[in-house]
Amino acid sequence: MQEIIRQLDEKRTRARLGGGERRIKAQHDKGKLTARERIELLLDPDSFEEWDLFKEHRCTDFGMGDTEDPEKHIPGDGVVTGYGTINGRLVFVFSQDFTVFGGSLSEAHAEKICKIMDKAVQVGAPVIGLNDSGGARIQEGVASLAGYAEVFQRNVLASGVVPQISMIMGPCAGGAVYSPAMTDFIFMVKDSSYMFVTGPDVVKTVTHEVVTAEELGGAVTHSTKSGVADLAFENDVEALLQLRRFVDFLPASNREKPPVRPTADAADRIEMSLDTLIPDNANKPYDMKELILKVVDEGDFFEVQPGYAGNIVVGFARMEGASVGIVANQPMVLAGCLDIDSSIKAARFVRFCDAFNIPVVTFVDVPGFLPGTAQEYGGIIKHGAKLLYAYAECTVPKVTVITRKAYGGAYDVMSSKHLRGDVNFAWPTAEIAVMGPKGAVEIIFRQDMGDPAKIAARTEEYRQKFANPFIAGHRGFIDDVIMPHSTRKRICRSLAMLKDKDLKNPWRKHGNIPL
Ligand code: HXC
Repeated sequence: MQEIIRQLDEKRTRARLGGGERRIKAQHDKGKLTARERIELLLDPDSFEEWDLFKEHRCTDFGMGDTEDPEKHIPGDGVVTGYGTINGRLVFVFSQDFTVFGGSLSEAHAEKICKIMDKAVQVGAPVIGLNDSGGARIQEGVASLAGYAEVFQRNVLASGVVPQISMIMGPCAGGAVYSPAMTDFIFMVKDSSYMFVTGPDVVKTVTHEVVTAEELGGAVTHSTKSGVADLAFENDVEALLQLRRFVDFLPASNREKPPVRPTADAADRIEMSLDTLIPDNANKPYDMKELILKVVDEGDFFEVQPGYAGNIVVGFARMEGASVGIVANQPMVLAGCLDIDSSIKAARFVRFCDAFNIPVVTFVDVPGFLPGTAQEYGGIIKHGAKLLYAYAECTVPKVTVITRKAYGGAYDVMSSKHLRGDVNFAWPTAEIAVMGPKGAVEIIFRQDMGDPAKIAARTEEYRQKFANPFIAGHRGFIDDVIMPHSTRKRICRSLAMLKDKDLKNPWRKHGNIPL
């Protein structure tokens, strides 16, 4: 008996070494942690339950069939899988081990990932993928491609059922990018992670472009240019610690309400500085993030995609301890206009919140959709409609605060009463109209354009009549015009009232969002 136990211990120790000391050193030399070190940092101490430590590939081609060769048969087959807890809450994890065949995905490797995904969906817990992989296991050919497709299929079936988060911590090429692409959030590590459909060499052959891996698919590229990644972190440690913080905001599945965490921040906290946030000049910007930080619990805001489409701000926060999704126009960037990128960014975020029962709080200061040929040729009609669609289909509690401009179609889009906004507030500084006074007068009083005095009088008349929240208030499109300093209190009360909101859309197989 003792001998059998000793042998098991030996086998485990050997399996846990993955590709061996030399390759572990190479991984460390690149500034990367190993698959197991990453899991240790991500999960609560001693909470990891590992599965399939002894699973091996079944490939016999290219010399892979020799089961006695420790270079060809490494137990675990390049991915560490199992479950554990983050701050006491259950999550499933897979962590690809670059020291074993470059973390490449074999049929067996894929089966391990599929096993934890299936269980995560059954029990209702998030799936976190720590990706570090050279893609399809080249020696396995189509068996590896089949493995990828099995994972893709599960990504799609799990979508909207349990949160799926991808942390890219190494190369990710070919098929390896498409599983993360179907998850809810993609985070990357700067200088050590890459995502591309084809690498720089293929790009050079096909398009004659010379580009580095970093420029083509590094963390900065994807978190600022392409919008593929939601966040870029400095290193593995920061990435994993922030991932722990992030998971705390999410419900474990679509069957749960968002988690609630005790807070010392009073729901009725008054923030007098908000009474002077809006500049006297309507064309002057101010930082919408200041409002967000002053309103949410303890100023704790987890922003996603901060480096992409900065004209809209999205992220998670808490009100009275419960998670909320924040969407806010940002007057500091493009005057807060909605354009293609910001519409897509916010639409995806609103849909995530809706899928996972997270209330949406929207702060509005939007002069309209961004005009111009670049936007029209790029399809702003279709892409802007995504955000409209997302807000309109969304059934979670929706609380909206118009701080300043709410013009035109963008007024309708930004969680208006007409799109089933539950509680719609306006600050006294709100201007709710079809367009700004200058543009409006130039159209409806075109005949007076030669007479500056008349135009100035008309503009002032328009401003007096429409550049305020009261016309919308008369109609009941705004539930109340509130004091800026009481914004937190009013939102908290609204969310408490809406806690058990029950609203369902008509049955259908699925809607047809303008993709
Ligand atoms: C098998 C692989 C591998 C792979 C790497 N290795 N990629 N083994 N299949 N796909 C092995 C290497 O042989 C090496 O083994 C070890 O992993 C480390 O690789 P290196 O090349 O030494 O590391 P590095 O210089 O850091 O380069 C990493 C890399 C490069 C950029 C990932 O290895 C690479 O380009 N790999 C191939 C990527 C690729 O084309 N994958 C297929 C994509 S197509 P030893 O024994 O020396 O340690 C695809 C289709 C799926 O994925 C489609 C689904 C829809």
